[in-house]
Amino acid sequence: MKRKTTLTIAFIILVLMNACYYDSEEALYPQNSSCDTANITYSESVSPILSAQCAGCHTGFGANGNVQLDSYEHIVSAVNNGSLLGAIRHESGWSPMPQNTNKLDDCSINKIEIWVAAGTPNN
Ligand code: HEC
Repeated sequence: MKRKTTLTIAFIILVLMNACYYDSEEALYPQNSSCDTANITYSESVSPILSAQCAGCHTGFGANGNVQLDSYEHIVSAVNNGSLLGAIRHESGWSPMPQNTNKLDDCSINKIEIWVAAGTPNN
């Protein structure tokens, strides 16, 4: 009887520890809930990120790597050949972008992915 009680208590402690583990995991990734991915549009969500992080090196004649990211049409063509997502996700086979600096934050990458998955609307 005593042994059974000990086992029961041990089991309850295990369950409680497990619950705490999941709670703290949520607390570890607060940006997931603060990343606003509702109403993603080209003009409000995607264009500002690429203008700020990429256009400096990817604008006009002589753009780096011959990749222009200075207009909707140019950006869509980089999406369609796979290079844009490959570069910002740092996938092998693509040059990691933005060059020589930190990867874009997860929220920005997420917004671009959502826009691509929606079929790159010009909205
Ligand atoms: C400091 C300058 C610089 C910045 C900022 C920069 N790039 Fe680049 N990018 C380059 C250069 C140089 C190349 C060509 C050489 C290479 O591929 O490494 C290039 C190449 C690329 C390519 C072609 C990659 C391939 O493997 O074919 C893509 C796509 C690209 N950039 C997208 C981006 C995006 C998206 C951003 C912003 C998140 C960005 N770049 C920011 C300099 C930059």
